[in-house]
Amino acid sequence: MNTLVMNTSAEPHIERASVPEWSNELAPYRERLLQSEKMSAAGHLLAGIVHELNNPLTTILGFSELLLRDGKLDSDRLEKIHAEAERSVRIIQNVLRLARTDNSGYEIIDVNDSIRRTVELVEYQIRLNRIDLNLSLSGRSPKVLAQAGELTQVFLNVVTNAIQAISGMRASGEIRISSALIGDSVRISITDDGPGVDETDIQRVFELFFTTKETGTGLGLSLSRKIIRENGGDMWVSSTKSCGATFTIQLPAVADTPCAEEESSSDESGMKALSRSVLIVDDEDHITELVESVLQGCGYRTDRLNEGAPAIELLKKKEYDILICDLHMPGTNGRDLIEWVRSNRTDIRVLLLSGDVARAETREFVRTCGAHFLPKPFSISELTKAVQRLSS
Ligand SMILES: Nc1ncnc2c1ncn2[C@@H]1O[C@H](COP(=O)(O)OP(=O)(O)OP(=O)(O)O)[C@@H](O)[C@H]1O
Ligand SMILES: [Mg+2]
Repeated sequence: MNTLVMNTSAEPHIERASVPEWSNELAPYRERLLQSEKMSAAGHLLAGIVHELNNPLTTILGFSELLLRDGKLDSDRLEKIHAEAERSVRIIQNVLRLARTDNSGYEIIDVNDSIRRTVELVEYQIRLNRIDLNLSLSGRSPKVLAQAGELTQVFLNVVTNAIQAISGMRASGEIRISSALIGDSVRISITDDGPGVDETDIQRVFELFFTTKETGTGLGLSLSRKIIRENGGDMWVSSTKSCGATFTIQLPAVADTPCAEEESSSDESGMKALSRSVLIVDDEDHITELVESVLQGCGYRTDRLNEGAPAIELLKKKEYDILICDLHMPGTNGRDLIEWVRSNRTDIRVLLLSGDVARAETREFVRTCGAHFLPKPFSISELTKAVQRLSS
């Protein structure tokens, strides 16, 4: 076993009998280490996230109260409410992506999008430490094949290190993030103007458990490089003492795939909508009212209910093309309803709605139940696109 000796003087360093590597011996602990590093990152972020959410919620609450008090429609205020609600949704989605514990599988990820999401997660810490953030992202939207949560975690580790490097040295600073498509690779560089990495440490920053911080675990960069290498890429650092550090991540690029949902023209979708009937079931009355208004506006014929049992009774008597249902409802829930439809009305297409996306059990049901899934909260355009896809 490797022996680590911690020096607890002002500038901590690690003396090694031998360097622990990602050997077979450590392989069984990889997932646990990955998860604890994620949780520690999430813990650091929590205060910032609460603050980030409280701001848009204050705006939403305040402006909606003003609208109600004045009793007249003010599109400017409504736009502010809408923009702030969208911002809250993005914050929650980013945190959920990061906290996911399952291997949600590989997907094609827009690297610029992933960088922007990461930056949103640390926006508060960046502002608090008076750091200027400069993004110089490739106009060609480079894409990679990776697991979204893992990629966010890598960016987050490197950006957090940059923030910590700057804030440990001075009252303000600059972080520059760039992305570029070079041949068949995507290259992402994250540069800070902090103290840089010591010549003696530069070979060691990616070592497992290497840290110069009193409260650091020394896991961040080691895990990050491991993730990047597992995805067919590599990661390195260049630094000049007192001129900051640049961390570069390189990943194989994947070709763009055309967006399947743009296929049908809006005229065609309108025609299809007119002949389709939809049953909407959700125990939240506001949700069924919203979904019904949107779908009726698109020309669908709709009925809505708040419980599963009467929905089954209605489905026995009346023909529907599409069932839109919530997952968690008292009594006969979405799971029971979908199972009934699967056994009795195989011609009906189902769109499942749920806000319970953090639970592994829900995701497993969504994966196996054969229904299309739309996570709450959703925008009107996401709802119409999902229903149009079911109508085609
Ligand atoms: N941007 C940077 N500037 C200067 N030094 C850095 C920078 N990023 C990383 N380092 C050095 O590399 C070390 C290892 O980083 P790593 O992210 O693996 O662990 P940590 O930040 O110390 O701890 P943790 O990430 O678990 O909080 C850091 O302790 C620091 O000495
Ligand atoms: Mg770190």
